Amino acid sequence: KAQAQNGRPAFNFKEIAAGSDETHHVAEGYDADVLIRWGDPVLADAPAFDPAKQTAAAQRHQFGYNNDFVGFIPLDGSSEHGLLVVNHEYTNEELMFPGIGRQDTKDAGFARMTRDLVDIEMAAHGGSILEVRRIAGKWQVVKGSKYARRITADTEMEITGPAAGHERMKTPSDPSGRKVLGMLNNCAGGVTPWGTWLTCEENFNGYFWGKADGHPEAAALKRYGVPGNWYNWGQYHDRFDVTKEPNESNRFGWVVEIDPFDPNSVPKKRTALGRFKHEGAANIISRDGRFVIYQGDDERFDYVYKFVTEAKVDLQNRAANRDILDRGTLYVAKYKADGTGEWLPLVHGQGPLTEANGFRSQADVVIEARRAADLLGATKMDRPEDVEANPKTDKVYVMLTNNTRRKNDQVDAANPRADNAFGHIIEMLPNGRDHAATTFTWEILVKCGDPSIAAVGATFSSATTKDGWFGMPDNCAVDNAGRLWIATDGNSPKATGRGDGLWALETEGEGRGTSRHFFRVPAGAEMCGPCFTPDDETLFLAVQHPGESEDDKVAATFEQPSTRWPDFKEGMPPRPAIVVVTRRGGGKIGA
Ligand code: FEO
Ligand code: CA
Ligand code: CA
Ligand code: CA
Repeated sequence: KAQAQNGRPAFNFKEIAAGSDETHHVAEGYDADVLIRWGDPVLADAPAFDPAKQTAAAQRHQFGYNNDFVGFIPLDGSSEHGLLVVNHEYTNEELMFPGIGRQDTKDAGFARMTRDLVDIEMAAHGGSILEVRRIAGKWQVVKGSKYARRITADTEMEITGPAAGHERMKTPSDPSGRKVLGMLNNCAGGVTPWGTWLTCEENFNGYFWGKADGHPEAAALKRYGVPGNWYNWGQYHDRFDVTKEPNESNRFGWVVEIDPFDPNSVPKKRTALGRFKHEGAANIISRDGRFVIYQGDDERFDYVYKFVTEAKVDLQNRAANRDILDRGTLYVAKYKADGTGEWLPLVHGQGPLTEANGFRSQADVVIEARRAADLLGATKMDRPEDVEANPKTDKVYVMLTNNTRRKNDQVDAANPRADNAFGHIIEMLPNGRDHAATTFTWEILVKCGDPSIAAVGATFSSATTKDGWFGMPDNCAVDNAGRLWIATDGNSPKATGRGDGLWALETEGEGRGTSRHFFRVPAGAEMCGPCFTPDDETLFLAVQHPGESEDDKVAATFEQPSTRWPDFKEGMPPRPAIVVVTRRGGGKIGA
């Protein structure tokens, strides 16, 4: 039975059974409808989706692949009408195209990846801006909306902040160092209170190919895993070949700010926020009115960051906030064993961030934010994914998804498990409940995994059922009642006896640490997105890469996916899609 906890309602829904099959499942009493799928029209003139005859020109007008972050920006304060901004993180060529084959036979796959297919992939990356409306209880995409927009790996963007115009940002095709085409691997993100979309470049290294040996920045490339050689775009586009355009990779790995209200606006790469494998950009306003963005760098042994603007947010004058993300202080977190912590500033000239260590200006500091954080002695974490602040309590939740490479002699208070296969969640409280403060206290909210296996060391509450626990926390959302919802990446029948999905985790009172299963994805998929409307009556979810292999021994391909969700038609591949959850008869989600 639901009990109020510190002013918040406890979750009250009947949880679903954990597991995995061909389709999605939501708690009883809720509808979970597909809103838009890969290939569906975004722009009014988009052709109908035909997977056998797909073209880059069609894809540039259609919904992209692998939807990840979802943000809702209300129109006129409405919870039933707004803009939906969606990241298209990456592409699965083996599931998208006939006859390409699985990704782990890359050499064979690359040989079959023609320029036309590469160009479709590039067009399926980036993001979509949709106008959405709830009519008679059901959500739909508004056709022919003046806001509709596709952003791709070729959209012209501006580089702003300390690295703009720097030598290391210049290329043969952009001698200004201020103009770049496209954004890559946009994973999580955020929306700002002034109605812009923050979309975060994560594994940009994978798009570059060639060899780092002999490269003028070989050491810097190595710290970021460039070139990753995950895609063969460099075969057809010189800028993705590190030997041909040595600086192009410095122009990726940033947070991009986009104004969704103007479809002609030029997206801006905000370099003051640092360059790394950005997970998200959840944000909150500090006590004195400055803007604070929490950020994870999703890599084993990398860091948790935050950025605090110099200027205050002006909620009365949208234009006043236009470039406030270009000036401020980037910090990296150090977690101490006594449960306190410190935010260390990444400021040129301070501490070790000097010319003697190769940092000639703040541009060098942000371009090599990882090396700067190494020198400052930040705490090496177990893959920081989403970091979200709870405005009701000012607690900050950090999702640490896993790190099976951590050895016994590398464990510390904040990353206490060696071979951490299931991840954990840290809860931080800024000093004075001020998000601009440079000190905080912290504790572990939960160590994830199956609590019935003692060796796993999971710490969910004893009220958590066999369906209620999860592993590999990734995206998260705090609803408007201040409750935490967690989406996972990496649960599978093999790893945890369950697929990925969405869980509701109690954080306060006696129920703290109790988790319940609300939604699960179809076979092979990962759960992304969670996003609530301001009235908490609608929950948008993103189902990413349905149809991937659930068993390493069986190849999942266009011809043989693990599911054909959501169409279930022969010849139609599985399609990443946005799912919209509402309560039958109306009401708040999970209330
Ligand atoms: Fe794209 Fe760290 O997840
Ligand atoms: Ca993620
Ligand atoms: Ca993910
Ligand atoms: Ca994924």
